Amino acid sequence: MEKILDGKKLAEKLNSELKQEINNIFEKTGVKPKLAAILANEDPGSEIYVNMKRKKCAEVGIESILIKLEKDISENTLLEEINKLNNDNTVHGILLQLPLPTKLKESTNKFIEKISPLKDVDGFNPINKGLLFDYNEELAPCTPKGIIALLEYYSIELKGKDVVIINRSNLVGKPLIFMLLKRNATITVCHTSTKNIDKHLKRADILIVAVGKPKFITKEKIKEGAIIIDVGQSRVEGKLFGDVDFDQVFEKCGAITPTPGGVGPLTVAFLLQNTFIAYKKQLKIN
Ligand SMILES: NC(=O)c1ccc[n+]([C@@H]2O[C@H](COP(=O)([O-])OP(=O)(O)OC[C@H]3O[C@@H](n4cnc5c(N)ncnc54)[C@H](OP(=O)(O)O)[C@@H]3O)[C@@H](O)[C@H]2O)c1
Repeated sequence: MEKILDGKKLAEKLNSELKQEINNIFEKTGVKPKLAAILANEDPGSEIYVNMKRKKCAEVGIESILIKLEKDISENTLLEEINKLNNDNTVHGILLQLPLPTKLKESTNKFIEKISPLKDVDGFNPINKGLLFDYNEELAPCTPKGIIALLEYYSIELKGKDVVIINRSNLVGKPLIFMLLKRNATITVCHTSTKNIDKHLKRADILIVAVGKPKFITKEKIKEGAIIIDVGQSRVEGKLFGDVDFDQVFEKCGAITPTPGGVGPLTVAFLLQNTFIAYKKQLKIN
């Protein structure tokens, strides 16, 4: 088995296949998929991230528009903007870039609930969350979808495996629970209130870590031969780090995702995939 789980390579493969599929449908329908990204904060990092997603959209033939709102926008104006996009038949996917400005942060769920479940490419709407509960992953969150795709691409067996996830967010940990259960894994979810976390880490056949703390996972914490999925992303002096001390862990683990080039590119690839799914649903194409 290959030791480096190359998310970048898989993302490139998926994106190139998607480009072909989009082109095939466009030739028949004359309609291109379109993603609308709403940016309501002035965080330069968020803007860079949205622009990068739009660039990837363009590469596969997805049109995109950016709705850039003032950071002191009112709750009603943002709800109206979402409503306009819900009613715009030329828009197939809506992405609300988080975090929202401080004033609106507390109402994040209200905005997410307003996005039509058919256009909810992040998979955060309660309807899509509910579908995932029933193992329907059609419009499930992008990062967990990417992680599962990577494990499957490298034929890593999940059935009967002890999978430990350190994260319980809506973005990563919670959706993974259902996706892994569906594939017959045994799951342990750790978080800041977990007692004796090392005991859980030591028995993980597969460890998925997303805490946002560089070098959180060191060699002595993992089981020999464990598969390590490093989701964390922290920038230190402009350089991107995962949660795992990669150099230390590399010899002992069975396989590992690098940072960069691991889960990150797959998150974006699955945003494109979800936009394509939403587009096909709206065009009633199977
Ligand atoms: N590669 C990608 O595409 C991608 C996508 C999404 C996220 N990320 C990265 O993944 C990380 C997590 O993102 P998020 O949005 O899920 O963040 P989050 O909501 O802050 O979640 C962090 C999780 O880690 C847990 N945690 C933090 N410190 C811990 C500790 N010392 N011991 C045990 N558990 C601990 C937290 O526990 P509590 O719940 O108890 O607070 C929480 O569940 C970030 O670095 C983010 O940048 C990467």
